[in-house]
Amino acid sequence: MPQTALKLYPPPGGELAPEEIYATLELPGGKPYTAINMVSTADGRAAIGGRAGRIGSATDRGNMNRIRAAADAVMSGAGTLRKEGVNFELPDELVRLRRRRGLPGQPLAVILTGSGELPAGRSVFRRSRESVVVMVPETLPEKKEAEISRFATVRRAGGDRFPDLRRALEILHGEFGVRRLLSEGGPSVNHALLRAGLADELFLTLAPKLSGNAAGPGIVSGEELNPEARQNLRLETLYAHGSELYLRYRILK
Ligand SMILES: NC(=O)c1ccc[n+]([C@@H]2O[C@H](COP(=O)([O-])OP(=O)(O)OC[C@H]3O[C@@H](n4cnc5c(N)ncnc54)[C@H](OP(=O)(O)O)[C@@H]3O)[C@@H](O)[C@H]2O)c1
Repeated sequence: MPQTALKLYPPPGGELAPEEIYATLELPGGKPYTAINMVSTADGRAAIGGRAGRIGSATDRGNMNRIRAAADAVMSGAGTLRKEGVNFELPDELVRLRRRRGLPGQPLAVILTGSGELPAGRSVFRRSRESVVVMVPETLPEKKEAEISRFATVRRAGGDRFPDLRRALEILHGEFGVRRLLSEGGPSVNHALLRAGLADELFLTLAPKLSGNAAGPGIVSGEELNPEARQNLRLETLYAHGSELYLRYRILK
């Protein structure tokens, strides 16, 4: 990879160090303001061999951490947690940056599940119980809730099969003070957020790789979105490092 990255949009473009991409990112607050961050292959797949970690470069992972650092909470579906073992921990320099901004060192971790089938051994559950919120549907059996409560804070967020996302976001805002939420998918959770009109922007890394697996997930997966939910995207910024592209889109509602 070359030493410098490029800012390509908006003009004027210019060179910058890869670590400067999103280094000064600030997300606007809301109830909460919700951004999605995903990485995709050039043929539109969100996983290679069932994992996203094999798609993006070290620069993409650095960007992911800097976007996380701008959020009060980082959220993921249980499907991603089961496949990937996501760990939302930020490195020390970003912890210090957040503290300088008057924020807790680490963003709140949020997991969404319908079944309550969570891999308890994942590193995200080694955090304190207060710093991990698991959103479950109203119908989750009490026994399951008690099991999850051993390692995380559980909230019932309405819903039958899955937690109701609108309610889940209301709880995050009202009870946990989350004004800026980052969803790291996966594709099913992204679909649910878009269908409900709850997503405000999309960070998308387009990696210079091909999957070839037509059956693999894309960055949004579910039924075709209806016209109201099929929001248009407006490009806000575009960076490149080597052949990898980093797009930031506003989701127009
Ligand atoms: N490229 C990327 O940036 C990226 C990012 C994340 C994930 N991925 C890839 O995506 C794949 C996993 O896809 P996925 O769609 O299974 O992941 P997902 O969206 O993380 O998980 C889906 C699960 O989330 C739970 N859920 C809670 N509320 C939901 C709601 N309202 N709607 C839908 N689901 C809800 C359900 O868990 P229960 O089953 O417990 O009910 C559901 O099965 C993996 O291969 C992973 O590598 C890629």
